[in-house]
Amino acid sequence: MNFSDSEIVNSIMTDQGHKAAASPEQADIVFVNTCSIRDNAERKVWDRLKYFRSVRNKNQQDQIVGVLGCMAERIREKFLDEEKLVDLVVGPDAYRDIPNLLAQVDDGRKAVNVILSLEETYADIAPVRTTGNGVTAFVSIMRGCDNMCSFCVVPFTRGRERSRSIDSILDEIRQLSENGYREVTLLGQNVNSYNDNGTTFAELMYRASLVDPEMRIRFSTSHPKDFPDELLSIINERPNICNYIHIPAQSGNSEVLKRMRRPYTREAYLSLIDRMKEIIPGVALSTDIITGFCGETEAQHEDTLSLMDIVRYDLAYMFAYSERERTLAHRKFEDDIPEEVKKRRLSEIIELQMRNQAALNREEIGRTHLVLVEGESKRNAAQLSGRTDTNKMVVFDRMDYQPGEYVKVRITDRTAATLKGKPLGRSSIQAFSQSEYADLKAEPVRV
Ligand code: 5AD
Ligand code: SF4
Repeated sequence: MNFSDSEIVNSIMTDQGHKAAASPEQADIVFVNTCSIRDNAERKVWDRLKYFRSVRNKNQQDQIVGVLGCMAERIREKFLDEEKLVDLVVGPDAYRDIPNLLAQVDDGRKAVNVILSLEETYADIAPVRTTGNGVTAFVSIMRGCDNMCSFCVVPFTRGRERSRSIDSILDEIRQLSENGYREVTLLGQNVNSYNDNGTTFAELMYRASLVDPEMRIRFSTSHPKDFPDELLSIINERPNICNYIHIPAQSGNSEVLKRMRRPYTREAYLSLIDRMKEIIPGVALSTDIITGFCGETEAQHEDTLSLMDIVRYDLAYMFAYSERERTLAHRKFEDDIPEEVKKRRLSEIIELQMRNQAALNREEIGRTHLVLVEGESKRNAAQLSGRTDTNKMVVFDRMDYQPGEYVKVRITDRTAATLKGKPLGRSSIQAFSQSEYADLKAEPVRV
């Protein structure tokens, strides 16, 4: 989401005639786009701001430093109180005001706008994508969140949920397709509650998939509380909608889920997973897990481990609970799990996830996937890397393939996080035959 927001700010700055500097150290203006989701995210920002203070003291005395995003909204006063750290503070809904705020800074004033909006979606601002790979892009479809999970600061920093108009979303996808992009990820805190005057997320997905049949469509994030079968069927039926769902569980215990204000039980979550696997054979799943939430017992932690073992996630983002001011959990519950217990539980879930992932990746050996090439492999310039429909990273010999091409790849080996393969030739979503899809959907041979 922040990556996508930075592209909007990039667009606003480009319109004002600014150009990207060779490095942040040489820039006249530096923006630090910030995250408040956990304490360690905020700590990194403070370190970064202190670093830029030292840059200013050394050789860039006129450099302007701005803080954007969630932290701006959360702790505006503190930024401005700290001597010579920050000149402007801009919350997630105030990016259009940046030119005015910069003018205020030029007048020698400190500038702040952290007003949250009920409407702002930046629908008419075409993001400027200068740091991406030219193949995959994020498209923001909504902003804010109304869910109020008790641990989460996002509803306070990003404000109320609002959806961008479907026409502006489809236009952006069309333009990306014309500019050679081959994959978009539709973004929102909870895309399943997308609602543009009655247009649902399922309908948006369907129409997005029609824009360009060779454009892959992904989406993130879904909340388990509302995932209609209709949407699952659309994902299964449209070849260019990827068979990959990020569906955060947060915990595997119903009591903990209740305290987290996640309106589903362990059983409801598992039955949703069953429906996903049934309606979309071969679907890949990923999750977010918080460990050591207020009052979590050892048995409740075990429930999370067992849930992860039942689902067998292809990917998981796992975090130790970090208390955030203003949240319900901060007001109502005690952050009573000692740090070392949180750490130990976190390493247990990470270990389990690594084991499950290794087993799932072993099952991939011998299969043929359609890989969208994203660029050169980070480790080896003679190889390319790209992702399968199911979002797994694959590396293979470069031959004469190019980023943005679809290549049929037979999986031959695996490392901890990536698959290795042998390229079998160029292909396309439409050409990758039904029987090849059927192979991928068949029950794997357990090795
Ligand atoms: N502590 C730890 N993790 C958190 N997340 C959100 N708030 C917190 C918190 N206070 C995690 C959730 C969410 C992901 C984006 O970040 O798992 O899904
Ligand atoms: Fe936070 Fe819950 Fe909203 Fe996700 S759904 S952003 S975890 S409040």
